[in-house]
Amino acid sequence: MAHARGDSDPPAAEEPPPGNDGSVPGGLPDRTSGQIYRIPRPQRVNDSPASHPLQTDRVAAFRAAAEAHPLQSFPRAAIDDREGASGYCAGAGRRARTRRKGSMTAAPGSTTRPPVFAARGVSKIYRMGDVEVHALRGVDLDLRKGEFVVLLGPSGSGKSTLLNILGGLDVPSCGAVSYRGMPLTEFDDAALTRYRREHVGFVFQFYNLIPSLTARENVSLITEIARRPLDPAAALGMVGLADRLDHFPAQLSGGEQQRVAIARAVVKRPDVLLCDEPTGALDVQTGIVVLEAIERINREIGATTAVITHNAVIAEMADRVIHISGGQVTHVDENRRKRPAHELAW
Ligand SMILES: Nc1ncnc2c1ncn2[C@@H]1O[C@H](COP(=O)(O)OP(=O)(O)OP(=O)(O)O)[C@@H](O)[C@H]1O
Ligand SMILES: [Mg+2]
Repeated sequence: MAHARGDSDPPAAEEPPPGNDGSVPGGLPDRTSGQIYRIPRPQRVNDSPASHPLQTDRVAAFRAAAEAHPLQSFPRAAIDDREGASGYCAGAGRRARTRRKGSMTAAPGSTTRPPVFAARGVSKIYRMGDVEVHALRGVDLDLRKGEFVVLLGPSGSGKSTLLNILGGLDVPSCGAVSYRGMPLTEFDDAALTRYRREHVGFVFQFYNLIPSLTARENVSLITEIARRPLDPAAALGMVGLADRLDHFPAQLSGGEQQRVAIARAVVKRPDVLLCDEPTGALDVQTGIVVLEAIERINREIGATTAVITHNAVIAEMADRVIHISGGQVTHVDENRRKRPAHELAW
């Protein structure tokens, strides 16, 4: 069973000195060995690395990022009620009906691809003192390999809760989720950390970039913990930021910052890309550029992609649209023709 992070974490390892290659301590501590990953000295395009030693505040920023990054943080409140709040659970699941929309070519094999996620009877009950909040009420859902789904629903309907459960950031109060046939909801804390680290890329509404690190450094942070990362510059190139590698977040527009966040999510070549309102803070034009970046990642890396939005127009670019209301999947629409992001307008 998962436990609250910190309950049994190994004591922090003694800080190692800087490495010969210019790397510095301060990466993500390995939860099982306690070993501290080394972070290579960032290379600046126009400057000699030797003349710009990594500054102490930048090391601190790397460390803070490692602690604050959603790959590492595990919401304590979210897992408090894993076993307790099961009042809603009995017989809660119900299968949503699927409707086919559109009259043009069918979404390519979307119904025949193998399942990546299978959620069955997933409920989530948050306890706030005496008050119980039923965020999810018996969700049954399959997500298939490589498909692009949009989770659409009103505020408070449980979209983020569901996405966080799929991404291993949260656990259900009852029900089960499998990932490629493995029982995600049985994973312990260390297994969930590995799962997030190796398989999942997250993009959130507010970009969560480290202000004191450049675009390239923000992305490089993740390559330190990934098994087969892309080159950070290549990941930034995929989202159209090849000419912004050495810009700090404050030197980037909102859409560019969000694209850095997408590059950071995909640099590890995730199997799953989970985006919670990625365009929520952006104007239409910028939002479309960001959606184009997500569309490209889905197509070129083949990551199973789920995007949360309130915006029904964005749903038109998905293979399937999962409608969520009151903590339940009310119905699923299948788009026979996906509209490319550049055709969207709202
Ligand atoms: N950590 C928490 N503690 C208590 N209640 C929570 C917590 N997280 C979410 N909730 C509640 O669960 C319900 C679903 O929240 P969730 O964030 O999943 O909704 P959402 O569909 O993502 O909404 P929005 O579109 O506004 O982001 C809401 O009523 C919310 O108040
Ligand atoms: Mg939300």
